[in-house]
Amino acid sequence: MTDAPVAREYRTGSDPRTLRDALGCFATGVTVVTCLDSEGHPVGLTANSFTSLSLDPPLLLVCVAKAAASAGPLSEAEHFAVNVLQTGQQPASITFSTRVEDRFGCTAWALGEHGVPVLMDSLSVFECARRAIHEGGDHYILVGEVKKATFESGLDPLLYFRGRYRRLHFD
Ligand SMILES: Cc1cc2nc3c(=O)[nH]c(=O)nc-3n(C[C@H](O)[C@H](O)[C@H](O)COP(=O)(O)O)c2cc1C
Repeated sequence: MTDAPVAREYRTGSDPRTLRDALGCFATGVTVVTCLDSEGHPVGLTANSFTSLSLDPPLLLVCVAKAAASAGPLSEAEHFAVNVLQTGQQPASITFSTRVEDRFGCTAWALGEHGVPVLMDSLSVFECARRAIHEGGDHYILVGEVKKATFESGLDPLLYFRGRYRRLHFD
């Protein structure tokens, strides 16, 4: 006989690792959020806190850690892009979430119509005008108004669940 699984529990004051593990039960896609800094250099970081927010007006949001180097440029830029990654872009997700000297030097990209860096071969790309920035604890909530969206219909999404990259699989 096997024991019944025991649910783990977080309460105020518990180890934050337990809260992270609980939040990690929410499976997400993976994005790279990009902009140009005030000197025109491309900036970007991997983010899975992306959410669609409104259809009319067309809004989306992404949460950026205040401690992230990209937080300053992203909160100052007039435009930013959310690049939704496909399975073949796992290397880009790793590049944009780790200490890589020149993230854009090892990733194929181009400037989009709104002057934002767009990663080539992404599953979808949302080019946005910055609409609002809200405080959210140790993160900023960056709200963008979608000016242009493009997507590929034949590619599979890169997923993230319980701290690991995953792929869709259907029975
Ligand atoms: C799958 C995944 C999702 C992530 N999601 C976010 C996120 O939503 N917001 C965030 O600020 N950092 C997120 N990170 C962490 C940043 O990508 C990481 O801290 C990055 O190095 C920040 O770069 P920067 O300091 O150059 O801005 C995520 C990392 C991974 C691997």
